[in-house]
Order: sequence, then structure tokens, then C-alpha cells
Amino acid sequence: SRHLLGLQGVPKEDIQLILDTATTFREVLERPIKRVPTLQGKTVVNLFYESSTRTRISFELAEKRLSADAINFAVSTSSVNKGESLKDTIRNIEAMKVDMVVIRHAAAGTPLMLTKLCDANIINAGDGIHEHPTQALLDMYSIREKLGRLDGLKVCIVGDIAHSRVALSNIFGLKTMGAKVSVCGPSTMIPKYIEELGVDVIYNIDEAIQENDVLNVLRIQLERKAREYFPSIREYVKYFGITSERLERNKKDILILHPGPINRGVELSSDVADGPYQIILQQVTNGVAVRMAVLYLLGTLN
Ligand code: CP
Repeated sequence: SRHLLGLQGVPKEDIQLILDTATTFREVLERPIKRVPTLQGKTVVNLFYESSTRTRISFELAEKRLSADAINFAVSTSSVNKGESLKDTIRNIEAMKVDMVVIRHAAAGTPLMLTKLCDANIINAGDGIHEHPTQALLDMYSIREKLGRLDGLKVCIVGDIAHSRVALSNIFGLKTMGAKVSVCGPSTMIPKYIEELGVDVIYNIDEAIQENDVLNVLRIQLERKAREYFPSIREYVKYFGITSERLERNKKDILILHPGPINRGVELSSDVADGPYQIILQQVTNGVAVRMAVLYLLGTLN
């Protein structure tokens, strides 16, 4: 494909190729001069209609490490404020001869819509509650780096599954790669269609810890009005919050991922967020290499 819109339907060999290519670029990040000429002459626009720290900076870094020209579009200082539509915005950007667009938008389906409006390669950096494919790719890369494989591993995604694009992309990617995927959270945060995706549901976090090799713990999305669909933060912490005490009571060894940003003291206690089981900042480093791989493969092989 010329675009990366999501991981649904992406074949195993394509995911494998992205992860293997990322391994090569991961090594570049350890060099004194962290730059290769791979995308010299290509122009990439980072079009972020929603807030981001990790995804936006790591895409910009990935573009610069590949010698592409990286342009950042901040909606707050753009003519979107004067009422310009997304369609007009993208047509104007395309008229400036841009090769690739990285888009984050609150509306699911926006990256797909852009593929119909312009000729650039489109990369989804998170579209509403739909998909966040590069997050799932960096999660899979990080699990594989740490545990050596994805096939046959038991991975549980914890938290607000119903409103999470990270959950959906992880489910599609991990299942394709042969992992056994489950989800854990309050019933109000588990979507009705989950079992149709071939995913088990666990309502008890202690059981989830005991039965899995990996927990991918999601952020409780307070900005998406999470309070409307679960009783209280205190109750969430009591029944689903992951603490050192809870980990040690249930299991000796487990790998914990979190996409960030963390609500410390909510989904993870601070001692777990900084503790020996987690690889949260390694995920962030790997995110640059994975995004370099995606940009390289879309920018040069198609
Ligand atoms: N994980 C993630 O997407 O973080 P940002 O929202 O900061 O990009």
C-alpha cells in the first residue's frame, strides 16, 4: 500500500518487514551522527489537529534522521482558525509539492479521506477512536525486542478499550503476529463487538496479571469525558489500577507497556511507572526507529 491508515488487514509479512527495517534504523539512533540520506529531497508535513508530544516529536525526528524536509503544521497558529476546511488545507499543502502527510485528527476516517483528496502518502498518527498504527507497531517492536517473539505470547490490553485507538491497532497487529490477545477493564469500557475480534475479556485485573506475559496499560482518557462512563477515578484505581503490591502478589515476572502520557496514580502507580517491570521510555526510543521504517518503506518502495 502507498499509505498506512491502520493495521486492520495488514498482512503478517508487511508487519514483519516494518519491524525488521526498524531494527536497522534503531542502530542508527545509537550513532554519534544520527542521520542517513535515505529520504533526501522528500518533504513530509506533520498535520496535527490534536495534541501530541511523543508521536509528533518522534515523527519529526524520524523525518530529520532520514534527511527528509520536515514541516510542522500547528493547527492553533494556522488558518484553520480562520475557518479553512480540512479539504482546502490539504489541497493548499499539496500545491506546495509535499510527498507525505502525517495526520492526527479527532475524527475517525480522516486519514482515509485524505487519500481521496491528494496524491501524497498518508500516515495515520491517530484518528479519533479508530486506529493509531505506529503506536501498535512500536509496542510490538518493544515486546519483540524484550521477549524475542510475538507468536504465542499472551498479551492483555488494560483500561478503556472502547475509546482507545491504541487498543484497536494493538489487537489487529498482535493477532496477525500470532499473539493471544485479551482485554481487561470495567464492563462499561469494553465494547460489545470485542469478542468478534477474537479477543478474550477478563474483568479481574489480578487474573489478567496471573495469566499474561505482557500488559499493555492504556491511559484513562479524562479529556474524552471518561467520567461519564465509569463511576469514579477512585473506584477505577481500586479495581484496575496496577501497583507494585498487586504485581508482586500475583506474579513474579511480567512486562508492562504504556503508550503515554501516564496518569500517575490512576492506571499505574508511580512506583510501577518507574519500576523494573516497565519499558515505557524504551517504547518511546523505539518509536523513532519504527516511524523511520514506515516513512522509508512508504517513501521509497511504492
Ligand atoms: N502515545 C501517544 O500517542 O502519545 P502522544 O499523544 O503524546 O503523541
